[in-house]
Amino acid sequence: MFISFEGLDGSGKTTQAQLLAETLRSHGRDVLFLREPGGTEISERIREILLDKKHLHMTQISEILLFSAARAQLISEVIRPALEKNCFVICDRYADSTTAYQGFGRGLNLETVRAINAAATGGLWPEKTIFLDVPISELISRREKSGLPLDRMESGGLEFFERIRQGYLHLCKEEPRRIVRIDGMRSVDALRQEIWSVLASTFTS
Ligand SMILES: Nc1ncnc2c1ncn2[C@@H]1O[C@H](COP(=O)(O)OP(=O)(O)O)[C@@H](O)[C@H]1O
Ligand SMILES: [Mg+2]
Repeated sequence: MFISFEGLDGSGKTTQAQLLAETLRSHGRDVLFLREPGGTEISERIREILLDKKHLHMTQISEILLFSAARAQLISEVIRPALEKNCFVICDRYADSTTAYQGFGRGLNLETVRAINAAATGGLWPEKTIFLDVPISELISRREKSGLPLDRMESGGLEFFERIRQGYLHLCKEEPRRIVRIDGMRSVDALRQEIWSVLASTFTS
């Protein structure tokens, strides 16, 4: 079973993905928890390049190809072998991030993005994707509370984030069976329960 979490930074993906991994483990399941980009030696090195604030001149096509290269490596070295062993794979971001950020956010041609995603994933998509939807104003206040500086990807401005959010909403409409929008404005525990009930029906079907 392959599950991904999507949404803007600060929407609660890592929190909920980790809680889901813990819950599954407490039910005796093997779980592999992965963050994107990363998860292999090559992919982690690509991650450093992508998030480095020195690289503001990175071209859009370089950016999408680097994300996709990191993902292709992760799929081949880690995700496919784990799925073959019936492991639960939980990804903190996957190829929908590319569509939302590079396609809708940066404005790359959506057909090009689709083709690159198809090549990088080899057609491997999660059974369920949880999109945690949180208004941009709330994301900004969470970020201010955390006191963390912005990385290169997060320095794109408010309109950039709003386009990404609209991109995610578009994907939810396009693939309603796979991508589930969850209102991320509730408590961590309320979200954990809702996500569990959404996924429980997938586990048993
Ligand atoms: N449901 C929630 N309500 C309020 N704050 C939350 C919630 N979930 C997570 N947070 C806080 O928001 C910040 C971002 O959460 P995180 O899980 O790291 O998001 P992401 O991985 O999507 O960037 C963290 O400081 C976290 O404690
Ligand atoms: Mg995170």
